[in-house]
Amino acid sequence: MSKVSVVGAGFYGSTTALRLAQYNIFDTVVLTDIVEGKSEGLALDMNQSRPIEGFETKIIGATTTADGAGYEATANSDVVVITAGLPRKPGMSRMDLIGVNAGIVRGVAENIAKHSPNAVVIVVSNPLDEMTALTQLATGFPKNRVMGQAGMLDTARFTNFVAEKLGVSVGSVKTLTLGSHGDTMVPVPSHCTVDGVALAEKLSAEEIEELVVRTRNGGAEIVALLKTGSAYYAPSAAAARMAKAVFEDSGAVMPVCAWVDGEYGITGVYLGVEAELGRTGIRKIVETKLTPSELSELKAAAEAVRAKQADVQSL
Ligand code: NAI
Ligand code: 2OP
Repeated sequence: MSKVSVVGAGFYGSTTALRLAQYNIFDTVVLTDIVEGKSEGLALDMNQSRPIEGFETKIIGATTTADGAGYEATANSDVVVITAGLPRKPGMSRMDLIGVNAGIVRGVAENIAKHSPNAVVIVVSNPLDEMTALTQLATGFPKNRVMGQAGMLDTARFTNFVAEKLGVSVGSVKTLTLGSHGDTMVPVPSHCTVDGVALAEKLSAEEIEELVVRTRNGGAEIVALLKTGSAYYAPSAAAARMAKAVFEDSGAVMPVCAWVDGEYGITGVYLGVEAELGRTGIRKIVETKLTPSELSELKAAAEAVRAKQADVQSL
């Protein structure tokens, strides 16, 4: 019986669970939350959409407690997506969430390790790079089996902005962002194309920089408009696609937060890079040729997140 579990039934978790169920590739999607009845209610609602949308995957809701009760429902998951934690409020940085979310994510990760010792874990809770590192520590899983979602989302935002600016289809645009899910995000214009033509031939350096800045602030732009909570439609699409690639052992190459150990001359840090995904999690990091300035930005991002990732060990 194939199973994917989504921990945290907030906006991100619930939309992810529904997307995963609608793929119709898993036997079960388990959705959990600490708020009593929330997951069960959402699961009931989602299951009632099955006849309309035409999918058979069963969604199971379960309430969990701080001492780990309720995690039996997630037992032996193939893939687990961790969305538990607080989102940002206007004016907050992702890093402002580190203290409270570290406590939540550590507890969740320990329970996941206990009940699903062979799972591949995809972390989305913020601050993303640090929570991914913490999850690997708390689960004790091999580093290839723990990854974070950020690059898929940041890349999608960049692609969307380029497509809107040029008035072309999103399908004709390819972009790439590496680095951290934060101030040291590294959009990579040298790998951006429109119908195979370099972005630099379509837009001026100033126009590209404007879109890069908007991409880097893409999450904050939405938080400021929503006033409460953060984005979840594009983020859930990103996490669900990663879970699908892992479960189907597809070998798809995606920008994700993965353990980097030697690639790009960077060692020992969770960082946004391109990687091939499969049933073992990260099959391998795919190194991309970067310009000298993009490479130095990536190295700077690595050092920034390395310092913070060291801090999470004590949180
Ligand atoms: P939300 O507030 O709607 O939902 C969070 C849920 O987590 C709540 O239902 C809460 O009850 C639950 N929760 C808290 N502690 C828990 C625990 N110990 N076990 C199980 N559930 C628990 O927030 P939303 O929008 O769903 O965001 C979730 C996280 O994802 C936030 O940290 C947010 O910053 C992050 N995020 C990350 C993105 C990325 O690209 N990596 C993009 C968007 C959001
Ligand atoms: C986002 O980028 C807040 O990390 C979240 O939308």
